[in-house]
Amino acid sequence: MIKAVRGTRDLLPPETALWNFVESAVRDVFRAYNFQEIRTPIFESTELFARGVGEETDIVAKEMYTWEDRGRADSDKGQSLTLRPEATAGIVRAYIEHKLGDRGLNKLYCIGPMFRRERPQKGRYRQFYQIDAEIIGPPSAGSESPARDAEVLEMLATLLDRLGITGWTLELNSVGCPNDRVAFNEALRKALDPVKDKMCADCQRRAVTNPLRVFDCKVPEDQPIIDALPRISQFLDEGCRKHFEAVQEILTKVGIPFSLNDRLVRGLDYYTRTAFEFTHGALGAQNAILGGGRYDGLSEALGGPAAPGIGFAIGEDRLVMSLQESASAAGVVKKPDLYIAPLGAGMNAEAARLARELRRHDLVADLGDETFRLKKSFEAATKAGAKYILIVGENEVKTDAFALKNLATGDQISVPRADLPRRIQE
Ligand code: HAM
Repeated sequence: MIKAVRGTRDLLPPETALWNFVESAVRDVFRAYNFQEIRTPIFESTELFARGVGEETDIVAKEMYTWEDRGRADSDKGQSLTLRPEATAGIVRAYIEHKLGDRGLNKLYCIGPMFRRERPQKGRYRQFYQIDAEIIGPPSAGSESPARDAEVLEMLATLLDRLGITGWTLELNSVGCPNDRVAFNEALRKALDPVKDKMCADCQRRAVTNPLRVFDCKVPEDQPIIDALPRISQFLDEGCRKHFEAVQEILTKVGIPFSLNDRLVRGLDYYTRTAFEFTHGALGAQNAILGGGRYDGLSEALGGPAAPGIGFAIGEDRLVMSLQESASAAGVVKKPDLYIAPLGAGMNAEAARLARELRRHDLVADLGDETFRLKKSFEAATKAGAKYILIVGENEVKTDAFALKNLATGDQISVPRADLPRRIQE
């Protein structure tokens, strides 16, 4: 038997109804904040992620699905391509390529699959889905303002509330700007130098190449060492400090609770200033429902104009999981209103005509076959979870009134064709 590849999975009904429920709530909420949808390709040139996300990150160093594409002729050297591990780099690439800033397209979102070669476990897959949103634009459009950070965070709180997800925590930090980072990295190197030999192989490498990434380490034995390291909060310059305070001030004023976490540096190199995660207790080890932050230098790093930005990505797999934990998932899955049972030769056509009429009234109708005995139709209707079964036999067609049976109560009545929609909707 051929099975789905490790780390990938089929999303099956009825769970897919929850995915659609989430996505339609997302589209509604994002619309109210004037976000518009962008769809970027699922693969991009490898260089985009190397330059955007950063060579030293776990994502680029270990987790990407990368291959050499064939060149056009035998002599051509192929191009290195990568399945997108995240959406931000592709969206910023598109922003630059189509000069979206000139067209005032500053609020973009996208929903789709991402790919990372991580060790699969509950809430962690190799193909997973993100709902990603970005505010990006020229500084003249106010894209640098702490008001944008607060707007994005308030939108997220609104979305989670709307979905009925309670018990989330917003963790907030500032990772400063490149200037702060120089001093911070130096302090980290100094602090790591005498202890790095006791750390894991990854941290020994990070301590030299990109010490900030030590904070991504999950090895339990390394944690006491990491806990004792200096924090970025001690190195923020005046501008970054003020920005961070302004974000917190707005959040407090609009009533969004948050907790400061100065260990939160996020696993991607493009972040500047505000960084955040929403976590949820019910999710276990992979408890981040979503993460994001500011990336004021990313556009320039990719060869574009100055275009500060901030955004986030929700892990849709995890969002659906936390929805299943909460009561609000109940009632999302819609069962058929009725099962139409044609009874006897020639009744398929009559049943099809009736089904067409009823579906036009927004009723969800399932349809049997004229060769089924009545008992089989009843079994099929029950299995489908239909509310009613509607019998279409020769007699019914002759009198233009149909036997309608409520499968829960067992009540059966004869209903004239014209009254059927109203009767079933009641
Ligand atoms: P990230 O923290 O790498 O950020 O991913 C965001 C979210 O995607 C995580 O919080 C998690 O819910 C989900 N996620 C990540 N990896 C997996 C996985 N293997 N399986 C299931 N879910 C996963 C980013 O990707 C940034 N691009 C977010 C961003 C947008 N920052 C600014 N704009």
